[in-house]
Amino acid sequence: MECQIIQLGCSLKVLNREIIHFSTIDSTNIYLLGSHSHLSGTVVLADYQTAGRGRRGRIWLSPKEESLLFSIYLREDTGKFPIYIFTFLAAVGVYEGLLPFVDRNALSLKWPNDVMIDHKKVCGILVQSKSASDNLSTIVIGVGLNVNQPPEFFSGEMANACSVLTATGNRVDRMELFASVAKAIDENLIALGKTGVQEIFSRWRRYCLYIGKTMAVTDDFHRYEGIFKNITSNGSLILMTDSGERTFHAAEVSIVKETLT
Ligand code: BTN
Repeated sequence: MECQIIQLGCSLKVLNREIIHFSTIDSTNIYLLGSHSHLSGTVVLADYQTAGRGRRGRIWLSPKEESLLFSIYLREDTGKFPIYIFTFLAAVGVYEGLLPFVDRNALSLKWPNDVMIDHKKVCGILVQSKSASDNLSTIVIGVGLNVNQPPEFFSGEMANACSVLTATGNRVDRMELFASVAKAIDENLIALGKTGVQEIFSRWRRYCLYIGKTMAVTDDFHRYEGIFKNITSNGSLILMTDSGERTFHAAEVSIVKETLT
């Protein structure tokens, strides 16, 4: 696999190792979860993935050079931070990194880990981890951000998704957007180290338009409808239903309806 080291033109403090750019790779997450000698803070970016992975074992597809596909490699003391915080942190970083390119009023975060423009998914995040014997855990934060895919790409099953281009009408320079998102994620990693998880959650809550609105979630057996009250300090969703408050973990349920009423 051919790759080159790239420079971003801005200085990063946590993501301060190499940024490795592949033209084609199987998956940036698979690569960083495998064996290699990269240091914590390394970022791997690809123009195309042949085996891109989404949440719940889904495939993540994107035509060559039309989106941002990257993963961040971190090594953290096992137990220092709960793994789920990196999902919220990446979503907050992508939201902030998109602000120079997208109207703030159109942007929202969606529980647990999507970034939306005009209620369509523009970015998905897949955080994976593995523990080692040295008390350090490997954390891989994978980000798939749709940038310049044309409207035809979002037909059929993809109708609930969008790219920055389809949402704003503007083609965006992928590397400019990447620098903005990387900088914002870096700033959030610094904030996490300094002030802990609550700062990340409070930013996430601020950027989520759906808190206080009606939504429905399902597990394998039931559908629960209610008002999205808040997220807990461990990232679970609190729903006020007719029969009282219920708390859901991201692994247990998926959202089937989210409205702004
Ligand atoms: C989701 O299902 O919403 C999460 C999608 C995450 C996709 C990104 S693309 C870069 C990285 N490499 C992968 O194989 N997956 C993540």
